[in-house]
Amino acid sequence: MRIGVLCSGGDAPGMNACIRGIVRAANEKQDEVIGICHGYQGLLDEDFYVDQYGSPFMDRGSVSGLARVGGTILHSSRCPRFQTEEGLKDASNVLRKRKIDALLPIGGNGTLSGAIELQNFWTGRIVGLPGTIDNDLLGTDLTIGFSTAVQTAVDAVDKLYDTAGSHDLMFIVEVMGRHCGDVAMFTALASGAEIVSTAEIAKPIPEMVEHLKKIKALGKKSVMMIVSEGDSHGGAYLLQEKLKEADNPYDSRVVVLGHILRGGSPCPIDRMLAAELGVFAVRSLHEGANGVMAGRIREEPALTPLPECIIDHRRVTEKMKQLLKVVAS
Ligand code: F6P
Repeated sequence: MRIGVLCSGGDAPGMNACIRGIVRAANEKQDEVIGICHGYQGLLDEDFYVDQYGSPFMDRGSVSGLARVGGTILHSSRCPRFQTEEGLKDASNVLRKRKIDALLPIGGNGTLSGAIELQNFWTGRIVGLPGTIDNDLLGTDLTIGFSTAVQTAVDAVDKLYDTAGSHDLMFIVEVMGRHCGDVAMFTALASGAEIVSTAEIAKPIPEMVEHLKKIKALGKKSVMMIVSEGDSHGGAYLLQEKLKEADNPYDSRVVVLGHILRGGSPCPIDRMLAAELGVFAVRSLHEGANGVMAGRIREEPALTPLPECIIDHRRVTEKMKQLLKVVAS
């Protein structure tokens, strides 16, 4: 079988480990792996991976040592042309021309919806892989890159605690995650932040200020607040302004962690998840899988139809909200 692999959308730590898993599993089955560079844009541009010896196929050596490397050796991009019928038809023609039998796109929501659309024009098999720090996909308990992103955010917040303590400050730390509050929620729970604001958990400003006044009166000198970039108050800077106008008793500073969360060497959980899903995706192709995403649900690898993975985004669970209520009280 000839398998095409690409990374699309925002990069995520563990994408390389996933490519490694795919290539190693494909080699075991005597499959050929074609690396498509720069995601769907690269597919349209026929931008293919060539190894140091000029071979168009990825083999064991092409992915050697990649488990610990951040980013993606295949590069990534967002591709507006892939959202048009013309772009999808062109991409299908390239796949046919290169005699690719199956495609393994690694990415998030946009990557998977692109894959769904592609199926209208191309009859090859597609198994998607969840590579995004956002953890917003259904069909897997964790996405590749999420655990590392949370680790990075927690490291940063741990450092901010020092300055918050030294200067009696409130930090309002914004994390990525698009519309999904998981990065914010996990970061808050793991770092012991007092307040979280996401699209789903956003208290009205007066209620927040009342809470801040209460904890200040109880003697709390500094405060850590974690805000999701998609929070319903409009993100950290707007929130800071709104709180100030409503008489926030704390002097506050904003820190936007942004793309820092997408970088760095993947943590062991991401490396293992990426390897497992990469291998699982290739084996699933050999068992006839098509139009599905390879994920991990309750400790087991699982295939879920692509549309079901993006029909909604993951919601912060009631259990987590309750946990936060107790530990942040
Ligand atoms: O989907 C990953 C992500 O990092 C989101 O958390 C964020 O909203 C977005 O991508 C940023 O995209 P870009 O790098 O294109 O600005």
